[in-house]
Amino acid sequence: MNQPTEPTIAIDVYRKRRERVFAALRAAGGGVAIVPTGPEALRNRDADYPYRHDSYFYYLTGFTEPEALLVLDASAAPDAPASVLFCREKNVERETWEGFRFGPEGAREAFGFDAAFAIGEVDAQVPRILADKPVLHYALGSSSELDAQVRGWLDAVRAQGRGGVAAPTAARDLIPLLDDMRLIKDEHELAIMRRAGQISAQAHRRAMAACHPGVREYELEAELLYTFRKFGAQAPAYTSIVAAGANACVLHYPAGNAIAQDGDLILIDAACELDGYASDITRTFPASGRFTPAQRELYDIVLAAQQAAIDVTRAGATFDDPHQAAVRVLSQGLLDTGILDRTKFASVNNVIAERAYAPFYMHRTGHWLGIDVHDCGDYRERGAPRDETGALPWRTLKPGMTLTIEPGLYIRPTEGVPERYWNIGIRIEDDAIVTANGCELLTRDVAVGADAIEALMQAARASNETGKSIA
Ligand code: GLY
Ligand code: MN
Ligand code: MN
Repeated sequence: MNQPTEPTIAIDVYRKRRERVFAALRAAGGGVAIVPTGPEALRNRDADYPYRHDSYFYYLTGFTEPEALLVLDASAAPDAPASVLFCREKNVERETWEGFRFGPEGAREAFGFDAAFAIGEVDAQVPRILADKPVLHYALGSSSELDAQVRGWLDAVRAQGRGGVAAPTAARDLIPLLDDMRLIKDEHELAIMRRAGQISAQAHRRAMAACHPGVREYELEAELLYTFRKFGAQAPAYTSIVAAGANACVLHYPAGNAIAQDGDLILIDAACELDGYASDITRTFPASGRFTPAQRELYDIVLAAQQAAIDVTRAGATFDDPHQAAVRVLSQGLLDTGILDRTKFASVNNVIAERAYAPFYMHRTGHWLGIDVHDCGDYRERGAPRDETGALPWRTLKPGMTLTIEPGLYIRPTEGVPERYWNIGIRIEDDAIVTANGCELLTRDVAVGADAIEALMQAARASNETGKSIA
C-alpha cells in the first residue's frame, strides 16, 4: 500500500456544504446558525486527552484546531460576511510549545470563509451578527456550555432593545438538517472512507499473521495500532476490541492481557479513523491457524448471515432488511446446531417471533458509519405515518449511505446448549456503501471466509514474518 501524501484542504467541498446549509436556512426564513467545535479535555495536570474536533463543525469547515466556532448568517446583508470563523490567534510562544496555528486570517484564506475573527472576540461579534435576525439555529440542548453561551449572546442583543435592535425570537435545532446531510456521503467522503477501510483491513491482515498460541491480546492490538499510523491514519476510530477465547462473548471487551490459547478464537473489532472518517471491521480467527469443527460450524453460520444481509443491502431496501435477513440465517443455524432446542420451536419463524435468538445474538446487524463510528442520522423515517404499534417505518436506504454489516453469535456457557459451542464468540463486520443495485464493501482487503483466513495464517507462518511478506 502506498504511503500517505500530504493532505490538501478541499476548500470547495466544505464551502459547498455550507452553501447547502444556507439554502436550507433561507428556504425556512433565514436566521443565523452557530456550530462550535469540541472542547479540549484535561487528562491530568498538564496532559490533555488527544484532541478530537466536533464532527458537525468538521463537516462544515474541515478545520481541526480547538477553540473554534462557525457562524453561518443566512440573513446577512449582501455586503456582509455570511460564513464566519472564530479561531485561535497566531501566538509565537504557544506555537513554540504546541505547534502551528492558522490564525484568523490564515484560516479564512485556507478554508474559504468570508470573514474570520479571534476566538476572544466571539462575545462581542456574535451578538452583533444576531442583531435583527429572525431565528437562531444551533444544537439545541446538546451542551450546557453552549446553551449558557447562547443565553449570554441573546442577553447582549436584548440589552440593545431600547436602541431598536431585536433579538431572534425563535431557536431551532440545527442538528436534523446536518444529520440528513451527513447521512448521504459525497465523493470526497467516500474516497476517504475507502482508504480508511483499506488501512484497517491491512491492520487485520497483520494481526492475523502475527497471531499464534501464546500471544497476548495487547500484542495483537499493537500490530493494529502500528498499521493505522504506518499508513497515515490519525487514530483508532474507537477502542480496539481484541478478545481471546471466552472474552469474545463480551461485546465491547477492550484488548487486555489475556494469552491466546491453542484452540481459542480471537475476535478483533478494530479500525482506524482517517482524516476524520471512521472505519469499523471485525474478524474472528483461530489462534492456532485452524478452526476446530465446532468453531467452523458457527463461523460458517455467521458468514452466511452476513452474506444474506449484504445481499439485501441496496437502495430501496429499508435499514432493517439486512438485520432481518441476518437474524433468519442465525436463527436457522441455532436450530440446526441444537443450540436452540428443536423440540421447542416448530420453525425458524417461531424462533424469530419469540426472539429466542436474542441470548446468542443481542445486537443489531449494523449502524450508520461516517465521521462518527456510530454515525448520525435517523434510523426511522421522521414524520412518516406510524404503524399499528406506534412505530415509525424504518428508513429507506439510498445511494451514498454508508453502514456496517456485522452479525455475530456469542455462546456463553448455558445449560441445554451443547458444550462444544461454549465460550465461542464470533462477529464478522464489514463496511458498505449503498448503491442503486447493491452495495460496495470497503473492507474486504482482509480475508473473511474460513478457508481464506486459514490460508493467510498458514502463509504467514511459512514465511515466519509478521505480515510484511503478505502486505
Ligand atoms: N466497533 C463498534 C461497533 O462495531 O459497533
Ligand atoms: Mn460496528
Ligand atoms: Mn465494530
